[in-house]
Amino acid sequence: MKHDPVVIGIETSCDETAIGIVRGRTLLANVIASSVEEHARFGGVVPEIASRAHLEAMLPTIEKALYDSKLTLADIDAVAVTAGPGLIGALLVGVASASGLALGLGKPIFGVNHLASHVAVDLLSHDEPIKPTIALLVSGGHSSLLQVDDITSSITKLGETMDDAAGEAFDKIARIMNLGFPGGPAIDREAKLGNSTAIDFPRGLTQSSDWQTRPYDFSFSGLKTAVARYLEATPNFVRSDVAASFQEAIVDVLIRKAVAACRATGIDSLVIAGGVAANSRLRIVAQEQCDKFKIALRIPSPLMCTDNGAMVATLGSLLVSASRPPSHIGFEADSSMSVTTISLTL
Ligand code: KG4
Ligand code: ZN
Repeated sequence: MKHDPVVIGIETSCDETAIGIVRGRTLLANVIASSVEEHARFGGVVPEIASRAHLEAMLPTIEKALYDSKLTLADIDAVAVTAGPGLIGALLVGVASASGLALGLGKPIFGVNHLASHVAVDLLSHDEPIKPTIALLVSGGHSSLLQVDDITSSITKLGETMDDAAGEAFDKIARIMNLGFPGGPAIDREAKLGNSTAIDFPRGLTQSSDWQTRPYDFSFSGLKTAVARYLEATPNFVRSDVAASFQEAIVDVLIRKAVAACRATGIDSLVIAGGVAANSRLRIVAQEQCDKFKIALRIPSPLMCTDNGAMVATLGSLLVSASRPPSHIGFEADSSMSVTTISLTL
């Protein structure tokens, strides 16, 4: 292919029907139709509602993305779609739609990993290639520390959460504090009004023995229990102080472990990706710590941290440019796809 590939990315792993279009590493369109309001009263995403919402939103969202990009379907060189991990019914809508599109256009399809896409989207805002880097991936369903040697071919898992994901912990604590859903942005806002040192909440897996045996793993369930107990035992609690102290505990552990991974591996580059990377406090602490240890920090803009189609299109575009093989048409969505599987190949 002589020109930069035009790739359409389709993301339906959770409650966003998201379509992105890129040319090479230039963003041409990024349209998101979210069903979050339909789930809010249940306090979490209801899979059946999400799948139906994807079906309704798919065609109008593709049309809007094409309109924004000033392109037609004939301009598309490849189709990329989230193949996993995620809610199976939701993924199936995206994979079926993308497969139909690729078949109709006679273009290759790339079934890509949602988590690798979160990391790849950083390349829309930073020119330098992702050379070996440590990636802290923090979303609603996953929290992992990764070593990324090549975003199109080599991701190694250094550690992951033993229980809740970081975003899940934000969502659960927000729910018990009646702050609404999704909880991350709500706690982020509330925490700005509070004192982050008011309550000394536990930092999971940071005892000296943990640094020996599980240096890059996380555990947030003890923190969740500690916050719940504190709320029960303290009728006149100050909501903003609880939010700020809880957020500080999570951010502290995430950044400490990410920096430790950089220092232990000698890799002086850190990418932070996924919905929780939009957290304002996390972005500040990460920058402070990376400056201190001379680590080059890359975090996508907050809008690009949460689920979107541009991230899927970007990974697709990188795979095309690296001449990686496309996926076999008819591949199946994989709700528990491993983070080390970057795309599905034959
Ligand atoms: O990556 P993402 O959009 O979807 C998944 O792949 O899961 O991440 C969603 C998660 C939710 O748990 C949400 O509460 C959290 O990211 N989140 C945040 C913020 N914005 C979104 N957590 C903390 N602070 C934020 N500002
Ligand atoms: Zn995500």
